[in-house]
Amino acid sequence: MSVEKYSFDFEVYQSQQELSAQDFALLQAAQKAAENAYAPYSNFHVGAAAHLNNGEIITGSNQENASYPVGTCAERVLLGTAATLFPNMPIQTMAISYTNEKGLSNHPISPCGMCRQYLLEYESRVNQPIRLILGGKEGKIYIIKTVTSLLPLNFSAEDF
Ligand code: THU
Repeated sequence: MSVEKYSFDFEVYQSQQELSAQDFALLQAAQKAAENAYAPYSNFHVGAAAHLNNGEIITGSNQENASYPVGTCAERVLLGTAATLFPNMPIQTMAISYTNEKGLSNHPISPCGMCRQYLLEYESRVNQPIRLILGGKEGKIYIIKTVTSLLPLNFSAEDF
């Protein structure tokens, strides 16, 4: 028997002012996209913005439903849009932001488990890591080099 350890490195920025101009702009696009969320049930508005390899910026926002499980997270809305508009186009960076029901947005949020799995599939189908920028309108920002880090011991097509 052995005990294995899993860890990964990520960057922590104290505020948006520390970001590069390009990363700052993408995070702002994610915050703007959150304004288009349809979230009457949770009042938690999430926005995602992606910078594709071809230079395009596309966005997504969470879209809820009276039948709660039918609702879709911002990240998966974005990925479906990316795959439809620009098939097989890798995503260099995706920013994710939000505003909660009190109008607050002061710490990074991380993609939910289902979105991590979905993001992982996107990385593997286009064979390029997706760099993530996680942050609110204020507070710390996390930058993670690849979604794979967020899903250790993952299940993927390689397991078939
Ligand atoms: N949500 C997202 O869109 N992305 C995340 O990363 C976390 C959660 C949405 C799902 C639901 O509409 C609302 O936020 C509250 O969970």
